[in-house]
Parts: sequence; structure tokens; C-alpha cells
Amino acid sequence: MSKIIDGKEISSQIKSEVRSETDIIKKEKGVTPGLAFIIAGDDPASRVYVKNKGKACDEAGFHSVTEAVPGDITESQLLDLIRGFNSDEKIHGILVQLPLPAHIDPKKIIEAIDYKKDVDGFHPVNVGKLSIGDNCFIPCTPLGITEMLRRKNIKTEGMRAVIIGRSNIVGKPVASLLLRPEFNCTVTVCHSKTADIKSVTSEADILVAAIGRADFVKKDFIKEGCVIIDVGINRVEDKETKSGYRITGDVDYNGCFDKCGMITPVPGGVGPMTIAMLLRNTLDAAKGEIYG
Ligand code: GUN
Repeated sequence: MSKIIDGKEISSQIKSEVRSETDIIKKEKGVTPGLAFIIAGDDPASRVYVKNKGKACDEAGFHSVTEAVPGDITESQLLDLIRGFNSDEKIHGILVQLPLPAHIDPKKIIEAIDYKKDVDGFHPVNVGKLSIGDNCFIPCTPLGITEMLRRKNIKTEGMRAVIIGRSNIVGKPVASLLLRPEFNCTVTVCHSKTADIKSVTSEADILVAAIGRADFVKKDFIKEGCVIIDVGINRVEDKETKSGYRITGDVDYNGCFDKCGMITPVPGGVGPMTIAMLLRNTLDAAKGEIYG
């Protein structure tokens, strides 16, 4: 069996399942899943992410709308846009791309989204439900990570999972998810202030790296045979490429490859899974699977 967990391949399977289910609900119920994107400002990476998500919606047979607004939009204008999508029956999911311009309070924006359309799983209602084990929208990257573990039949029960990073988008929700009875991991969360981080990460059977520091996890951080999930997407200078940079993860992939049991590559690991799970969440929203 290959050591490499191919996120591209797994995400293609999920996308084709979503496409088939979409065809069915369109035909049987006359419902087309609809997703609205809001992006403020012109951060090039964020624009590319939203463009790719929109393309994935087209391929899945979804209806999608992108509101690309200038970076100097006011908070109240942004809130009006959200209220419009909250009451739009054709829209089942709303995604406000983060980060937002500095003058806008992301908490206010996230809380304005109807939690029943919060396919990102960032609204406090969904965050709370994830934590207490209720049915809810689960953030796409954590969901993509557990879906990779599930589809690769990686044993989680009783395993020690160590997460590096405590963000609201990845670290904290992935910890909540791996604690749930369907995974039953023993979970430790490390962060920038963790003392002797290597002594913690080297206990991990499953190591999730989500700190946003290129090649942070080295061979001496890991236990022989562990499963490494690399969430990092870091741009590093590389004069040998046409663009002048390359994308690398939070893990020193080549250094860790021989020692680990399995590993996700960057690119082609967690990234494509995030998009596939966004489609899954939006389809579930359209089918009323989460909130009826
Ligand atoms: N920015 C980086 N990742 C994400 C994500 O998963 N959702 C949103 N809305 N913004 C992001």
C-alpha cells in the first residue's frame, strides 16, 4: 500500500458522489444546491481559493454566486449582503472568505450568517454543537481530514492524536472532531507557546500539522510509523520555478517520509479535500440533512 494519502484522488471520489446525489435531488425534488461566496478585497491567494471553489460548484451541478466586493466595503454593507443571502431560497450555503479587511470584525460577520446556511461551520451555534456532539455543519478542513482517515481505514480508536495549531478554522475543530466517539482519539493540542513541543509530537500516532510555518515538523519530531496530516499551505521563495515561489506544507516531507507510516503531500493532500467537503456540506444543507 502506498504511504502517500492522495487527497486529490479521495476528493475526486467525493466530488463524483456529490455530483450523482445532486443530479438525483434536482430530478426528484427540483432542488439545485446553491452556494454564495463573499470575498472582500483583492488578496490574490483568497481570490484563487474562491475561484477554485466556484469552479468546483459548477462541476458539481450547483448554482453559485460570487460577490467580489472592494476591500473598503463597510461592515454594514457586508451585513446587508449576508442578510440578502440569508433570505434567498435559492441559496443553501453562505461562505465569507477569510481573512476579512482589518476594519471589519469577522465575529460580527460570521454571527450574521444564518447558522442553518453556515456551510463553513464557523458560526458559534455550529461550533458549540460540534463540541457537544450534536449534528451540525463541521468546518471543511477538519471534516476533510477525518474523511481521509476514514476512507484510508486508518485506525483512530485509542490512538494518540497531536494537533499543532489552535486556530478556530482547523486546530480546535479537528480536536473536537477526533474526540467524538466515531474516532475516539486521545487528543493533545500544541501551539506556539507549548514547551518542548518535540516531546509531545513524538508521542503522536496521528500528527496534524496546522501552524502555517513551512517545513516546521522535522524527522526528530515524529514517532516511527505515525500518520502525518499536513494542513500547511506556505509560499516559499524558489528561484528555480517560473513563478519564483513554490507551495510547501508545515512538514519537512522528504525528511519525514521514510520514518512515518503515511503522509499527505502538499499540494494534493488536505487542500482538495477542503473543497470536496464544502460541496458535501452544501449538498447536505440543500437536502435538509443537518437542520431539516
Ligand atoms: N480562509 C482560509 N480557509 C478558509 C475556509 O475554510 N473558509 C473561509 N470562509 N475562509 C477561509
